[in-house]
Amino acid sequence: MSLFRKKSIEGLLAQTSDSESGLKRTLGASNLIALGIGAIIGAGLFVRTAAAAAEAAGPAVTISFIIAAVGCAFAGLCYAEFASMIPIAGSAYAYSYLTMGELIAWIIGWALIMEYALGAATVSIAWSEYLNNLLGGRIPYEWCHSPFESTKTGEHGIINLPALFILLVLTLLLIRGMQESATVNMIIVFIKVAIVLAFIAIGWQFINPANHTPYLIPADTPGHEGYFKHGWGGVLGGAAIVFFAFIGFDAVSTAAQEAKNPKRDMPIGILGSLVICTILYILFGHVLTGVANWKEFKDAGKEASVAFAIEHYMKGYSWLATAVTIAILAGFSSVILVMLMGQSRIFYTMSNDGLIPKAFGDLHPKFKTPYKANLILFVFVGIFAAFVPGNVAGDLTSFGTLFAFLLVSLGVWILRVKSPQIHRPFKTPLVPLVPILGFVVCLGMIIALDPETLKAAFTWMILGIIVYFSYSRKHSKLNVPADTLPTADDFNKQNPA
Ligand code: ALA
Repeated sequence: MSLFRKKSIEGLLAQTSDSESGLKRTLGASNLIALGIGAIIGAGLFVRTAAAAAEAAGPAVTISFIIAAVGCAFAGLCYAEFASMIPIAGSAYAYSYLTMGELIAWIIGWALIMEYALGAATVSIAWSEYLNNLLGGRIPYEWCHSPFESTKTGEHGIINLPALFILLVLTLLLIRGMQESATVNMIIVFIKVAIVLAFIAIGWQFINPANHTPYLIPADTPGHEGYFKHGWGGVLGGAAIVFFAFIGFDAVSTAAQEAKNPKRDMPIGILGSLVICTILYILFGHVLTGVANWKEFKDAGKEASVAFAIEHYMKGYSWLATAVTIAILAGFSSVILVMLMGQSRIFYTMSNDGLIPKAFGDLHPKFKTPYKANLILFVFVGIFAAFVPGNVAGDLTSFGTLFAFLLVSLGVWILRVKSPQIHRPFKTPLVPLVPILGFVVCLGMIIALDPETLKAAFTWMILGIIVYFSYSRKHSKLNVPADTLPTADDFNKQNPA
């Protein structure tokens, strides 16, 4: 049995066309764009914009956003080709199974757990923190912190209950139905985008042009000696910081099996959400660094940088600071929702392939959602959220994402060479240039992650390889004799050009 045995595209499409027993197709283009925006706008925008300006880019954080967006766009164009061609829930995992074989697919599926499951855990911990801020710190310390955290005055955390609470609510919503989840997501997206637009429109009048001069951090600024801390290098350093703000658009592709018209709507959902968020981010960065001076974000505000800028420089608009906190809570909720959705869909596909136990693929008899996968995921993510400090998982989320981007970029090119005849409703432009650029940019960002993150990611991957050889390889459906698999004729019938 080869480690690189591949699934055929015919087999993949047969899996997606089983509409009687499979996931329900309920999502239209606007739902998909909203899912993308739901996953994208969160801590990255509200927390990391000020951090990137203060640490590396100054007012040119706007250019950092453009650079990070261009990097994501390379990968996004590749995702769009795959997701419209093979509308299956497994996203990067499924595409790799087709192009690079089972072992690589398993590795990427395992890495995606870092993006989606750890991502959801990290954001739920941040949600708990913001909720407590909004409530004026009324939740007792021990009930909103992990046992590994303590205060200077000797208080110890026991369990992070608010984080568990939001995970449970969103898990139940996801079990109830994809359409219901998409509707709640749409409402949340509406609220957070409205507040972001309000901040941009109102804040615009308070921009002090002096704060935007000079636009790049001068080389002789104390504390900014390193290459990635000033000038154009600083703009690049800022791009690495705000990359987190774009994570999530790829989750749209995990809903491909639930889209009504994936061939047309997948590229619209993936690329549309990316474009809308990029425009909002640039405007947001321009206003934030215009209202307050970037240097002030070094020690003032920190997590609450936007509220700081409003309260100090936008007199009479303190309601907007409260609204921003609500937008952050709403934003975090939809990020968690879409991450949990993405992870359960990837588990669903891996289970259908036999690589993880069958329970992950069981659909609810009435709601047609992978409810057991959602419940198991709740336990797994919940343990993290309840008992582990929030800073542990943040950069691992970026690692998992970048790793997936890298392989999806490579996969598009491989499939173009090996199966040029397959009908592609959306084609990535300028192949192989765009996939190569996607690959290089993502590899560069992985290398730039700190060594501790890389070590933790490596340990996680070794664990994954052990699981593969001790369980998944033996249970893979590819162990079934080849002549029982669908043929090229089946594929042509299912997928007329
Ligand atoms: N892009 C998501 C956020 O910024 C992960 O929270």
